[in-house]
Amino acid sequence: MNQIKNKTNKSKKYIVETYGCQMNEHDSEKISWILEEMGYVLTDDIKKTDLIIYNTCAVRKSAEDKVLGKLGELKQEKRENPDLILAVCGCMMQRQEIIDIITSKYKQVDIIFGTNNIQKLPQLINNHLMTGSTITDIVEDTREIDESIDANRKYEFKSYVNIMHGCNNFCTYCIVPYTRGREISRDPKNIIEEIDNLAKNGCKEVTLLGQNVNSYGNTLDKKYTFPNLLKDINDIEGIERIRFMTSHPKDISDELINSYGRLDKLCNHLHLPVQSGSNRILKLMNRKYTRESYLNNIEKIRNEKPDISITTDIIVGFPGETEEDFNETLELVKEVRFDSAYTFLYSIREGTPAASMQEQVPNKVKHARFQRLIALLREIGLKENEELLNQIVPILVEGTDTNNKNTLNGKTTTGKIVYFKGSDRLIGNIVNVKINNVKNFSLEGIVI
Ligand code: 5AD
Ligand code: SF4
Repeated sequence: MNQIKNKTNKSKKYIVETYGCQMNEHDSEKISWILEEMGYVLTDDIKKTDLIIYNTCAVRKSAEDKVLGKLGELKQEKRENPDLILAVCGCMMQRQEIIDIITSKYKQVDIIFGTNNIQKLPQLINNHLMTGSTITDIVEDTREIDESIDANRKYEFKSYVNIMHGCNNFCTYCIVPYTRGREISRDPKNIIEEIDNLAKNGCKEVTLLGQNVNSYGNTLDKKYTFPNLLKDINDIEGIERIRFMTSHPKDISDELINSYGRLDKLCNHLHLPVQSGSNRILKLMNRKYTRESYLNNIEKIRNEKPDISITTDIIVGFPGETEEDFNETLELVKEVRFDSAYTFLYSIREGTPAASMQEQVPNKVKHARFQRLIALLREIGLKENEELLNQIVPILVEGTDTNNKNTLNGKTTTGKIVYFKGSDRLIGNIVNVKINNVKNFSLEGIVI
């Protein structure tokens, strides 16, 4: 880390492009912090940059193909500017198969690193500059969390905070346990200190990140659970909203459900990925809960907080999914009435158990089911949003519309996006907005 302090590259410019989830977005904020400590300055001009880093995602094949396509395009940039450093990192790089492809076919890449050694970036850049050769540095797994790196956060008023890393669940479709290693929780002292500092610098909303926040604390020496952490964060002055991502249905506790009634800063939203409504498919996915236990938890949560918004992730076309299994997913969606959902076509990830399952669902069938699911979610989303018409809701103002600077956007505590007119001086504040128009997955209103 000492090398980060050596401001050796004073006027150099960098670009970081991020693919995938919030975890990756936050890793990129850490990468930006490291680079700026080295003296690099952010640019969006590819012709003038000295360094390009792609922080990649491996969850679906389409995301990987996109990055490889982009790397192909950069061959030309590298020809025009041989001093340009091209680095790739993130989940894709934790796959040997991908490293083999990059080192053999994408020789324009100078530095390859993974998800567990971001803090080594200054050393890797120096090594490349000194040797001129391609530097590959991958750490399989780590039992230590480097607490010395900070993040160059995109917003002052809302921040991501890692509470844990890795995943132990091995859902049979998922590559994450192979790319992010085993689960490890951060020391609560460090988390609280980080959020305390953020709050002192104007942060109002924190989003706690972990692959399964419900198992937070399992690797700590003393007994300290996710609801304990929520309670301690709720006590931090200045913090007004607490969100978290992601929660595994098998581990949701009554203690967490009760937190919704007890903690005034906990946002009125739960993202609870169901993946499928069929018990047979849930079993094949190794999800370790049933449709019934999922529905039972939803009922308990709604008893605690009747107007909570519930969102989910659903995979369409998992190997062996029949028409009947898919109909069970549609029925579950109708029963829960999700406010919105991230929907995914099942993507084969080599090395995961599901990749070698027989009965892969044909693409045409997957796509047709996907369209039916989206139509249903749109219909339910609109009906749920209609309930908000004429209501006055507090909104944390996040930014302006890229095409129309007079249109602001922000989020309700239920996580819904609202568009309204107003001055950009409102950004970062919580304002009351009266909802006067609703769409499938967004709202419109006026500041009152
Ligand atoms: N194919 C499609 N979707 C996937 N997800 C994870 N792995 C796959 C895959 N192989 C989805 C899950 C998870 C979300 C982050 O990505 O729904 O919850
Ligand atoms: Fe992947 Fe399952 Fe872990 Fe989520 S809980 S990251 S879906 S293995």
